[in-house]
Amino acid sequence: MSKNVKSVVFSGVQPSGNLHLGNYLGAIKNFVDLQKKMKCIYCIADLHAITISQDPKELKKNILDTTAGFIACGLDFKKSIIFNQSSVSGHAELAWIFNCVSRIGWMNRMTQFKEKAGANKENANVGLYVYPNLMAADILLYKATHVPVGDDQKQHLELTRDIAQKFNNDFNAENFFPLPEPLIQEKLSRVMSLRDGKKKMSKSEESDYSRIDLKDDAETIKKKIKKAKTDSSPIPEKIEDLKNRPEAQNLLNIYSFVTNSTVEKTLKEMKGKDFSKFKDHLSDALVSVICPIGKKIKELESDTANLKKILKEGSEKASTIAKNNLKEIKEILGFIQS
Ligand code: TYM
Repeated sequence: MSKNVKSVVFSGVQPSGNLHLGNYLGAIKNFVDLQKKMKCIYCIADLHAITISQDPKELKKNILDTTAGFIACGLDFKKSIIFNQSSVSGHAELAWIFNCVSRIGWMNRMTQFKEKAGANKENANVGLYVYPNLMAADILLYKATHVPVGDDQKQHLELTRDIAQKFNNDFNAENFFPLPEPLIQEKLSRVMSLRDGKKKMSKSEESDYSRIDLKDDAETIKKKIKKAKTDSSPIPEKIEDLKNRPEAQNLLNIYSFVTNSTVEKTLKEMKGKDFSKFKDHLSDALVSVICPIGKKIKELESDTANLKKILKEGSEKASTIAKNNLKEIKEILGFIQS
């Protein structure tokens, strides 16, 4: 990154139900750390959410709940810009421009489309197909340089860099868009499902027992961890011995991360123990981190007027930046602006 480029952090989360442990440890925790050092812009990605069918009432509630989740996790709306994507029209405008920059071949390589569309590709909506172009627009509308995300978004970030580079080249606008860098948690880039250590923890998995939601109470967390899949062997001494034990690896990763430790140290501490014993430690660690957040979310959710006010303030700030940047983009493209 060139020295004169101003650092701007951008990221987004879809309002698709309760935030879960994967969202928090993989992304939002990093959002909070970054706001201490850089200018940060965080959006609730409601335009992305409608790539799957939504009940409008439920969507409205989920947008406010996600806002409450952001604040409860430690985002400060006075320091960082927090807003919902659809309230800044520049996202959709730039996405259209990027639809005309991005290549069909690039879209066809996106693994998330293949996973989400499944076998019924012909019947998927076009929005789901061009979703990565909208994500690139989200980031580049603010000329963001750093994007904190979980590992599953890495391919979309690579595409964003390709789009930025192609736009700069095609329109002779050297260095106009920065090539944003993904910021992925080194120690925990992907939190896996509690039912299947090979699948990521996700809102779309049917079983509630596959994930810890940030609003789960202590009893529920304990129950979910107790039921989490493991194998019959005790905790090994060496990391290499976790190689073919994805569920064991996942629980040890989570524990090490939330206790600010490393897997090496955890193994030293826990070697030879049965998973049932280890799970008690894991539950305690999760309860102490997650329950205060859940309590705060519930408090914040009860004051919807306050949450709407936070979003309105954020949208105004985001719109000002977006408008200025869009003006430059339209100038580069040759549009006449009145
Ligand atoms: P979404 O809503 O699926 O997830 C929000 C963030 O949480 C991370 N995440 C995880 N990290 C680790 N382990 C997991 N199991 C896990 N599950 C989710 C995601 O990587 C993400 O960082 N397309 C994005 C939202 C978006 C966005 C953007 C992100 C829209 N525009 C611009 C960055 C920049 C999405 O669907 O994330």
